[in-house]
Amino acid sequence: MLTTIEQDLSQLFGQAFEANDLSFDFGATVRCTRPELGDFQCNGAMAAAKQGAGNPFVTAEKVAASLADNDLIKNIEVVRPGFINIFVNEDYLSKKLSRFSEDTSFGAAEDLSKTKVMIDFGGPNVAKSMHVGHLRTAIIGDSLQRIFRFKGYDVVSDAHLGDWGTQMGMLIEGLKKRQPDLPYFDKDFTGPYPEESPVTIQDLETIYPEESGLCKTDDEAAEKARKATLELQNGREGYIALWKHFVSVSIATLKRDYGELGVSFDLWKGESDADPFIPVILKELEEKNISVKDQGALIVPIVDDEGEKIMPPLILRKSDGAVMYGTTDLATLYERVYEDNADIVLYVVDGRQQQHFKQVFAAADLMEMNKRTTYEHTYFGTVNGKDGKPFKTRTGGVMKLHDLIQMAKEEARKKLAASNFGTDFDDEEKEEIAHKVAISTLKFADLRNYRIKDYIFDLEKFSEFEGKTGPYLLMQVARIKSILRKAGEVNAEPGTLQATSDNERALTFKLLEFVTALDKTIDKRAPHFLCEHLYNLAQEFSSFYQKQHILKEADEAKRASLLKLSSICLNQLEVGLELLGIETLERM
Ligand code: ARG
Repeated sequence: MLTTIEQDLSQLFGQAFEANDLSFDFGATVRCTRPELGDFQCNGAMAAAKQGAGNPFVTAEKVAASLADNDLIKNIEVVRPGFINIFVNEDYLSKKLSRFSEDTSFGAAEDLSKTKVMIDFGGPNVAKSMHVGHLRTAIIGDSLQRIFRFKGYDVVSDAHLGDWGTQMGMLIEGLKKRQPDLPYFDKDFTGPYPEESPVTIQDLETIYPEESGLCKTDDEAAEKARKATLELQNGREGYIALWKHFVSVSIATLKRDYGELGVSFDLWKGESDADPFIPVILKELEEKNISVKDQGALIVPIVDDEGEKIMPPLILRKSDGAVMYGTTDLATLYERVYEDNADIVLYVVDGRQQQHFKQVFAAADLMEMNKRTTYEHTYFGTVNGKDGKPFKTRTGGVMKLHDLIQMAKEEARKKLAASNFGTDFDDEEKEEIAHKVAISTLKFADLRNYRIKDYIFDLEKFSEFEGKTGPYLLMQVARIKSILRKAGEVNAEPGTLQATSDNERALTFKLLEFVTALDKTIDKRAPHFLCEHLYNLAQEFSSFYQKQHILKEADEAKRASLLKLSSICLNQLEVGLELLGIETLERM
């Protein structure tokens, strides 16, 4: 494994402390918060003093003196009361960067293929089009699956379709009313059922809201839908055949929307796939005395160590026998733990479902699934409008995801035209640019915030080419590409990195921070760390480019080195953006 500068220095300083009969751990070295004072600093002498090692200044001087001639170090200074400030050697720095840049993962990947991470995200529902509420789970979940995979984990993502609840009964009853003669409703029909779907997605999208509205006021309709759901769950053939059509026409539309976002899943399983595991968990819960009967329903009480109820119980089965959202989730988790052998299961689902996951996980803990697998609700905050309430359309309706993407594209076209970007490109390229800019807008604006926070949806701000935005990063990428292209036209190619001069130092250090940013992202399951890194890197490149007139550099070797540095920067930006699910552009 490649070691970072921090690791090299910590090792070196650790040994120097040891040579002075002090603990190796005092050698821990970190980046200096004030670059004018040093590249790195070691504060171990003060920590040692607290543990009785005597005057920290004296200790620091001793350690510093013993390392003054080391190859890694250019200059070392001791500042009262006992800080050791370190400037690293230029040659060492550029060699370090060379080594890291030759590695396709910039030193971040490890062999973690024995650790299986299952990521449950997306969670779209059959017959309902995706709306703004499905945006965050898609963007964050997809980014996490890319990042975990890149790090080296064995990753499996699952869309976990909502395909087994009461909405299914509503659709069945709704269609029965409209087309009572279909064979699916005839109990005596012996098959085979038609291969072609009796409904389109548009039909489902009309039937569903009508029926669900009706069921809210009409008890008889609600009762019918409930019964149909139960019959479906109990395997009534015609209903199953019909339900399969509902699912497949829905998936086709969902794939279109996810395709636009550039999001994909390994598995398109649904709540219904957990069905075979429901009797299994119910049996185990009963045998272990975890479940109890309560007014005809079957529940798992959620209690603390003292037996006090801390939240409403997990309802496994209603008195009519129907299973619930929590039941399918518990059964799905069971499958993931015992059949799929997942080590970690991440649920990238809205923070408003925290109680649901607490209930499910509490029941899973009682079944001792936590002995084999770690499961987490990797939740996120709400996308709000400028009024601070959940984001809606202008007329107050739910914003469809598809429409939101079109809106972002429209805004991208406007901003591109205003900035005079690509005005002379052909229509096809213009459209590609608008699409990629729009997607980068939505994704970066979402990912740059710590996921548990709410944010205000401000498309105009998110689409700016300046500031911490997706379009800004795409523009920087296109800019570096253009520099490299122009160099290529005069046969100036990237070459060997030379010893790093002052102008390149900050950029070099930034590039080497990639590993840390990625590891933090994984540790906290929070891509904003990576966003922050990429934004800072792009800015660092900007100031480097202002100071260095790369294309005008007369010294060929120096120019080749600067071009190399630029190309490493480009490469890292592109790799990083890909991990966020953002596609870059050749030019704009
Ligand atoms: N279909 C659900 C919804 O729209 C989200 C599913 C999330 N995943 C899960 N395993 N519960 O709210």
